[in-house]
Amino acid sequence: MAFTQDELKQQVAKAAVEYVKSGIIGVGTGSTANYFIEELAKVKNKIDGAVASSEATAQRLKSHGIEVYDLNSVDALDIYVDGADEITEHMHMLKGGGGALTREKIVAAVAKSFICICDETKYVPVLGKFPLPIEVLPMARSYVARELVKLGGQPKLRDFTTDNGNVILDVHGLTIQNPVEMENKINQIVGVVTNGLFASRGADVLLLATSNGVKTFKR
Ligand code: A5P
Repeated sequence: MAFTQDELKQQVAKAAVEYVKSGIIGVGTGSTANYFIEELAKVKNKIDGAVASSEATAQRLKSHGIEVYDLNSVDALDIYVDGADEITEHMHMLKGGGGALTREKIVAAVAKSFICICDETKYVPVLGKFPLPIEVLPMARSYVARELVKLGGQPKLRDFTTDNGNVILDVHGLTIQNPVEMENKINQIVGVVTNGLFASRGADVLLLATSNGVKTFKR
């Protein structure tokens, strides 16, 4: 039976709720994460609340009656649940299509386990077909764009302001054979706040919704 992409997202969101035990949960941003929030709301009595990776997610959590905590008031998170724009068999991800990459990376850094929830369209052999988002301080925009061209990409300014008041350059035309190296290189460019490669710290668990059910991969 063929499922729509939205049905696959719903299925994987349901599967992720199995990992919700107690305490405070890190919650990502995007359409798949939104389905997860709907499922989380059904078990909200099990948890104390959540830390959000964006203002949009915080609003959505609150609208479901889930308490939202400031990350600074939380020492540890057991899990962070989020989608991705691309993920490989090595659990390296490309994220930030929704522009929330910086807060996503911060909340993910605090969590013991990153649970990535994706439909099968996101599973790729090599990262980079999806343009790589880079959050940049506004005054550094042109400089960073020139440096990204030197790395072989074609940066395009997104018509968007992040929750942190910065801009996003979407870098087209990259074939990212070594995501850890590329993540580190881009982080060295002055003015870059965060890049959308989540490779040094990839996913710990991948729940992948396919037409044959949800498959689980562990690092
Ligand atoms: C948000 O900034 C992104 O990193 C999302 O996690 C990613 O774009 C996946 O979004 P969808 O679930 O909407 O595809």
